[in-house]
Amino acid sequence: ALICVFNGPNLNMLGTREPEIYGRETLKDVETLCADKCRTLGHDMRFTQSNSEGDLVTWIQEARGKADGIVINPAAYTHTSVAIRDALAAFGGPFVEIHISNVHARESFRHKSYLSDIASAVICGCGIAGYGYAIDTVSRLIAKG
Ligand code: DQA
Repeated sequence: ALICVFNGPNLNMLGTREPEIYGRETLKDVETLCADKCRTLGHDMRFTQSNSEGDLVTWIQEARGKADGIVINPAAYTHTSVAIRDALAAFGGPFVEIHISNVHARESFRHKSYLSDIASAVICGCGIAGYGYAIDTVSRLIAKG
């Protein structure tokens, strides 16, 4: 199966960005973790990051009919984007929302997600390991059909 892993704004700065919150690992490390996990499970993977909301919407649209599942860390757009929600609602397949930090232990504006109620699962506060858990979950959901 094909799993798309999409990353939102500022995640290109992982490793140097607020390391006390997000850790010292880079987005490249996240990509390696995801690639290893997908290879182990026998899946193909596309891994991308953008600072632009429109790119994420376009990628989700393009995943329709091609990808079997999506793992997405929408970063700050989690808390603002009806457009990303609408794109994911149209995707049709399973998607898992993942956050590196525990958003619920942070500022109140991070407690609201525009995606969580339509996500298959939500993972937060597990650090970058959460990406692996998200891929495991989406893989199980794809297998279930
Ligand atoms: C984040 C949490 C968001 O609130 C924040 O805007 C991010 C990253 C996380 O992975 O913990 O950029 O999605």
